[in-house]
Amino acid sequence: MHDFLFKSGELHAEDVPVSRIVKRYGSPVYIYSHRTILRHFRAFSEAFDGYPHIICYAAKANSNSAILKILAEEGGGADVVSGGELFRAINAGIPANRIVYAGVGKTTEEIRYALKERILMFNVESEAELIEINRVAGIMKRNAPIALRVNPDIDPETHPYISTGLKRHKFGIPMEDALECYRIAKRMPHIEILGIHKHIGSQITKVSPFVDALKKLLSLVDNLRLNGMEIRYIDIGGGLGIPYNDEEPPQPKDLAKAVLPLLWGRDFTLIVEPGRSILGNAGILVTKVLYLKKGLGKDFVIVDAGMNDLIRPSLYGAFHRIVPVVKRKRKKIIADIVGPICESGDFLAKDREIERPFQGDLIAVMSAGAYGFSMASRYNSRPMVAEVIVRGKTFGIIRQRETYEDLIARERIPEDI
Ligand SMILES: Cc1ncc(COP(=O)(O)O)c(C=O)c1O
Repeated sequence: MHDFLFKSGELHAEDVPVSRIVKRYGSPVYIYSHRTILRHFRAFSEAFDGYPHIICYAAKANSNSAILKILAEEGGGADVVSGGELFRAINAGIPANRIVYAGVGKTTEEIRYALKERILMFNVESEAELIEINRVAGIMKRNAPIALRVNPDIDPETHPYISTGLKRHKFGIPMEDALECYRIAKRMPHIEILGIHKHIGSQITKVSPFVDALKKLLSLVDNLRLNGMEIRYIDIGGGLGIPYNDEEPPQPKDLAKAVLPLLWGRDFTLIVEPGRSILGNAGILVTKVLYLKKGLGKDFVIVDAGMNDLIRPSLYGAFHRIVPVVKRKRKKIIADIVGPICESGDFLAKDREIERPFQGDLIAVMSAGAYGFSMASRYNSRPMVAEVIVRGKTFGIIRQRETYEDLIARERIPEDI
């Protein structure tokens, strides 16, 4: 469900014509719907209502400060994977005691920063990391609250690049080693065992992988109890899929219905880390048609947004629906919709049937709110695009378009070189 709908043949973001936003802020531009973000977040909090829980929004999906602030005001926590994300979350008003920190490569500085801020817990991904956290905590005369991220070896049946919970992946601690790793953690003087964590992948379109993975976690929890270790927080990660095209992924309430029966009667606080399912369909990328080009046996629609602005099609072959911002009932063509970047992999869609656009027309790339701007880069020295949020009839900028000066602002030319 989203709030980007056609009214009188023109695409609107909530109650604002998309073309009006482009007139004010230019193209390309990411546009988000406040209403969709709230509805999606609330779908999670309502689904898990009745069981102690924290919805720790996965900041990597979209870490714009305005978006984090909206979620902070809803009582959301955050799942962060870097010092930068931790900074953003705290700066946006997410209380540190609702922040969990995952990632296989936390640096000493990042560990120190997270300890100083007193986050809820580190989701630890290796024994070596555990040793480092214990060491840093010792120097700071603190106890570090931790969960071990366990790799349950469950296939989430999604794209290999966004699948994370199989044995061959770099993430988490193998199930077979987890008990021993908890024992090691228990002996460490500055480690406080608080929870257990798993995240098996993203864009998961069934509940069964979540259930199977949770069952494995719970049997480990029981084993830990027998070994004198009490788990208070059970973190089931994120990963719920969204409809990009014709997928029909489970809703948060379906996930809750599948997962909560396994938790009733157990004294946990549940943590869920949704990212894509909150932001994905809450945002679009609007781009302008620059040129039409006839190739040999192929038409190209060349637009002003490239793989640097939205890398998902190039990186994962991901599908995004593409629609004209104003429907004109022109004849359909089949074309590759490509950006201006000097890479053959720079495309937003391949062999796509679309209404034949004209130069200057606007087209919208749908479902671009998650892993869109947050994965964008300045490749080919292209300034980062603007981001705008709409709420009802009003809209405002949440990130200004960069200038050419911004591109070189931090560069220096040493005099002696
Ligand atoms: C540890 C962790 N939690 C949560 C998420 C969010 O996943 P999704 O956006 O699919 O909900 C990710 C995504 O990669 C992750 O790595």
